[in-house]
Amino acid sequence: MSKSILNICCIGAGYVGGPTMTVIADKCPNIKVNVVDINSERIKKWNDKDLSKLPIYEPGLKEIIERCRNKNLFFSTEIQKHISNADMIFISVNTPTKTKGIGAGQASDLKWVEASSREIAKYSKGKTIVVEKSTLPVRTARTIKEILEASVSKDDYDSSNAKEFSVLSNPEFLSEGNAVNDLENPDRVLIGGEDKEAISLLREIYLNWVKEEKIITTDLWSSELSKLVANAFLAQRVSSINTVSSLCEATGADIKNVSLAIGTDKRIGPLFLNAGPGFGGSCFKKDISNLVYIYNHYGLKEEAEYWQKVIDINYWQQNRITEIILKNLFGTITDKKISILGFSFKANTNDTRESPAIRICKNLIEEGGNLSIYDPQVKAEAIEFNLNLAEHELFDTEAKVGSWQFSNTIIESTKNADAVVVMTEWEEFKYINWNEIIKMMRKPPWLFDTRSITNIKKAKEAGMKTWRLGFNEKINQ
Ligand code: UDX
Ligand code: ADP
Repeated sequence: MSKSILNICCIGAGYVGGPTMTVIADKCPNIKVNVVDINSERIKKWNDKDLSKLPIYEPGLKEIIERCRNKNLFFSTEIQKHISNADMIFISVNTPTKTKGIGAGQASDLKWVEASSREIAKYSKGKTIVVEKSTLPVRTARTIKEILEASVSKDDYDSSNAKEFSVLSNPEFLSEGNAVNDLENPDRVLIGGEDKEAISLLREIYLNWVKEEKIITTDLWSSELSKLVANAFLAQRVSSINTVSSLCEATGADIKNVSLAIGTDKRIGPLFLNAGPGFGGSCFKKDISNLVYIYNHYGLKEEAEYWQKVIDINYWQQNRITEIILKNLFGTITDKKISILGFSFKANTNDTRESPAIRICKNLIEEGGNLSIYDPQVKAEAIEFNLNLAEHELFDTEAKVGSWQFSNTIIESTKNADAVVVMTEWEEFKYINWNEIIKMMRKPPWLFDTRSITNIKKAKEAGMKTWRLGFNEKINQ
């Protein structure tokens, strides 16, 4: 193996692989980075001259792509070729929760990880460092290692260049919407492994822009488990503050004031205390489910139940919000137009995976509402896929109720609506001109703000009836 890494191949050009490799290429001009994917449409988008067509929306990303693409950063479907040339291979493929079979609903589906490991086993040459980037259940490195090692002695592989593998865990802690900043200024970089030389080579890459003291090295299993536990703790904080939101509504306290007050305690800290419609994204639910599965696997039932509750509360919050909307709209939304502002799971991303908007919109459609959905970055196809209902199609064809349509602007979405429901904390929702909106809405016009992002005072002054999560207007009048 060379003294330093010159060729990186990343398998998987998604939300993790794409931004991570872009930043590595930018910070390490001497390293050639090839990002490969089986999805040729996705690769085509990464290579599109028109940078607004990149497959993922991430602030600051397209500027870096512009600097590095086709210099030392390449996106390709030539998986075999780039595996063969690589000194280091990152596995950044998807690991969703299994939908069927043993562990369905909890365990991660590792079929894509296994497929990539087999490809690496087949096409790699010489000594190769394999880095797990995707979030994986604890001890997946062992599976990867087994697959890789099984290939070493086989005759059908190129024996002139004997294969040797080192597997490292280097979990990603980037938060979508802030991915570039998280990658450029990480709180820490975690590397788990046994092979000191391999660890040092990966460390050397990060040392190009990350301070030495921020690079933590551990054993493989601790690294894998830390990723799951970090996400579980973050999700738990969101679920905890969300349970306080209903108590605030019942008692007259204001969740924003409570979050501020508790967050100033150094031991608690101010981040991740925004009550909302529940956590979404590809990681939180998947990682806690995984943790629950692992606890159960080791017979640790109470601990499994404890973490399962974090997920249960997340759904409870989404259903609770639906009920509040219904109750305030006189108990029925049949044939009412409801404007939904925001569909992504959080602001500054076009990612809709596990977005709380999905369940709330489904609930509202089932209740007979006609939703008009606007999101600055999410496309109609993604909404259709998540709601499992085509645009304009009726949910209940007999009763002729329940549907959704895509809106291109806030105005279009709110026109003739009975209510506006703010689902995602997009910046532009802060500056809605309620005087203009209210003129076009049906009366009484309602605003339900699940993220406490809108200017409620101005909305009220304009004549809107308002509800904000974690605050009871009646008690506070
Ligand atoms: C998360 C982790 O933060 C990241 O370290 C890991 O690598 C991947 O998973 P991400 O899913 O991109 O990142 O988003 P994050 O910012 O963590 O938010 C997750 C969900 O929690 C979002 O739906 C967000 O709206 C919600 N959330 C977050 C709240 O409701 N309140 C908060 O205070 C913070
Ligand atoms: P994440 O959020 O973890 O990045 P994504 O679903 O956005 O997840 O991206 C994972 C990518 O991995 C997808 O584009 C998928 O096509 C790709 N992928 C999955 N399996 C393989 C494989 N065996 N070889 C190459 N790419 C793969």
